[in-house]
This record gives sequence, structure tokens and C-alpha cells, in this order.
Amino acid sequence: MIRVLTLALAVAWLLPAAAFAGDAAKGDALFKGMGTCWTCHGQNGAGDGPAAAPLDPKPRNLSEGSYKFDADGNGTPGEDTDLMLVIKNGPAEYGGSNAMPYFKHLTDEQIADLVAYIRSLEK
Ligand code: HEC
Repeated sequence: MIRVLTLALAVAWLLPAAAFAGDAAKGDALFKGMGTCWTCHGQNGAGDGPAAAPLDPKPRNLSEGSYKFDADGNGTPGEDTDLMLVIKNGPAEYGGSNAMPYFKHLTDEQIADLVAYIRSLEK
């Protein structure tokens, strides 16, 4: 019983994206609101927010659907799980820029909503 529970917990931890189906509309509100993402990534996620100019590397243009970090180390960057981990822990945790803060105060559900919104921006 304990082993089954441990396994279930491990799977739930490893696959946060599978645990929550994100809501893009809620993610949109968070992105443009208290999530503060827009200040760097821009109102439409194009990487052109008011705080973007001095940053190098630039905030990612989220409409391109092109991502850098393989945060879960499975060999494929840019999966839902990777984006969730980068948002939660910040890019610096995975060797990227420390200009983007971590968002550990957001719930996994809120982060899944953000990822659903980001996916809706991709062309
Ligand atoms: C202070 C500026 C800033 C804020 C605020 C910010 N970001 Fe970023 N973001 C960046 C920068 C800079 C990068 C590029 C990091 C790099 O390449 O090292 C980035 C990269 C990303 C990436 C790309 C990850 C990858 O694997 O390529 C995603 C997704 C992302 N941000 C989402 C978000 C979300 C969602 C929020 C709000 C919760 C947010 N960011 C808030 C600056 C910011």
C-alpha cells in the first residue's frame, strides 16, 4: 500500500502537466495581471514588454513556440513539463538568465493555466 502511494506521489510529482489541464483564459489574465509576465514578455507575449529593452538574452518571444530549456532532463526542451518547471523555478535554475524571477508562489494549477495560455500564442 505504502509503495503504491509512493509511486502515485512520484508520478504526480514528475508529471505536473498531466495532473492539471490548464485554462488558457485564466492564464491570459494571470499573464497580464498579478503574474507580471507581460512586463518582460509583452502584452501579446512577443518578448517586447516595457522591461525587455535592457535584457540580454531578451525575454522569449512566446509566439514563436521555440524554447531552450530541457528542465526535466528527458532530452526534449519546451514540453509542458519543461515550461512549468522554468516558470516555477526560474531559467537560472537550468543555466539560463536570472533576469526572469522564479514564480514559486504560484500554484501548479496557475502555472498550468499560464502554459495553456502560452500554447495559445504559438503560431
Ligand atoms: C523580468 C523579466 C521577466 C519576467 C517578469 C518574466 N520573464 Fe519569462 N523570460 C525572461 C527572459 C529574459 C527569458 C529568457 C531566459 C534565457 O534564455 O536564459 C525568459 C524566458 C521564458 C520562457 C522560455 C523558457 C524556455 O525554455 O525557453 C518562458 C516559457 C517564460 N519566460 C514564461 C514566463 C512567464 C509565464 C512569466 C510570468 C509568470 C514570465 N516568463 C515572467 C524574462 C522574464
